[in-house]
Amino acid sequence: MSERETWSTNLGFVLAAIGSAVGLGNIWRFPWLTAENGGSAFLVVYLGLVVAIGVPGLVAEFVIGRRGHRDPVGAFRALSRSRWWPVVGVYAVGTTLLVLTFYSVVGGWILRYTVGSLTGAYVADPATYFGTVSFGPEAVVAHLVFLGVVGAIIATGVSGGIERSSKAMMPAIVVLLGGLAVWAFSLPGAAGGYEFFLSFDVATLRENFLAILGPAAGQALFTLSLGAGSMLTYASYLDRDESLPADATVIAVANTLIGVLTGLVVFPLLFSQGLPPGSGGEGALFIALAEAFASLPAGGVVAPLFFGVVLLAAVSSAISMLETPVAYLVDEHAVPRRRATLGVVGLLAVTGSATALAPSAFGLIAGTLADLALTGGLLAFVVFVGWVLGRDAVDEYRAGAGSLSTPLAGAWHALVAWGLPVVLGFTLLTSLASLAGVALGVELRVALTLGALVVVRTLVRMGRERRPVAGAD
Ligand code: PFF
Repeated sequence: MSERETWSTNLGFVLAAIGSAVGLGNIWRFPWLTAENGGSAFLVVYLGLVVAIGVPGLVAEFVIGRRGHRDPVGAFRALSRSRWWPVVGVYAVGTTLLVLTFYSVVGGWILRYTVGSLTGAYVADPATYFGTVSFGPEAVVAHLVFLGVVGAIIATGVSGGIERSSKAMMPAIVVLLGGLAVWAFSLPGAAGGYEFFLSFDVATLRENFLAILGPAAGQALFTLSLGAGSMLTYASYLDRDESLPADATVIAVANTLIGVLTGLVVFPLLFSQGLPPGSGGEGALFIALAEAFASLPAGGVVAPLFFGVVLLAAVSSAISMLETPVAYLVDEHAVPRRRATLGVVGLLAVTGSATALAPSAFGLIAGTLADLALTGGLLAFVVFVGWVLGRDAVDEYRAGAGSLSTPLAGAWHALVAWGLPVVLGFTLLTSLASLAGVALGVELRVALTLGALVVVRTLVRMGRERRPVAGAD
């Protein structure tokens, strides 16, 4: 493994991880779900979950990745010696493929809107434009171009491709978004947007808390790229002298700030044009934004900048997803990086094209299935870190983290071993029940979650006794 690639600097890793986190999740999925789930009430639950689940969960993924020093499958194999844990790695690799299947289709939309902003293609009729661009043969072509760009970066390698491109893209995103937020502030009627986004309504929150929980948790994971093994893979290229909790905090804060900054562009812009974000589904934001840009005097200049930012964000997230299956092929099957990239891109070209031709499959994958896959993935990761790695996880947390981390490490581990499995298990069950159309009371769901965790814990302990891990407690 001595030839395995690494980041050239810790800053490079942090920027690449921020690049993974900041993406269509912040810019497209977040306003879409916020609008669908009661505006600021959703924002509050989501922010709470980013702090309570997101940051400790991110550290857990980093711990597996850095300690395993391999792709997700290899990391679980190296750290557990159980035949079953690598299956979780396979599941994670599958999740990145599943998410990319719709993500690159939306990436293709953004590409079309960026070019369309320059040519004025959507000005006359934004709704019809979205119809032409979103699904069908044109969507297939745009998605293939997007995938090609992402593939080219990944083929170039970790420090040369991912790190170098992230160092250029991240500052560009922040500067451009900041400028756009100032511009949006100057629009007449922008205040309505701030109110929708930032005012806090306790009644809506109280009435809808449980309904909001599933989508808000899914979004908190989605936005931090958690549960898919991408962050695990990025951390596998790290040395042991960096602080994982500090890096995770910086990444989560930067991601949240960029998310909020995006909201400060999108919502004032929409409200200023009398286009409050309704519950029009995944296309509403595109149509509304295009309408707003089409009717504003400065729209012709601002629109390409805006969609350009979105494009950069989409590319930097998609590369983290593509890196995961590529790392798997490179680490586990010794496939050369370029050939591995070509193979995975070939597969995604097929699955993504199918999604670009099937709007109903797209909706299912982009919403419920992605949420479920990520929640299930992170649940398995935290159970592994909490119950299988045990003290080794605490050691890994502390490596490079300085003396301040000593008291925090124990609290983090307790949260990962007990708090997160319960919350994630409950969320998973709630989402599964609503997908199946089964109504289960809260008490029953709590009881089922706890029961399932007891069973899993027993299985984990049995597996541990049968096949002890070398060097572990
Ligand atoms: N965090 C990305 C976004 O918000 O757009 C999406 C994402 C990237 C999800 C990587 C999962 C993943 F592994």
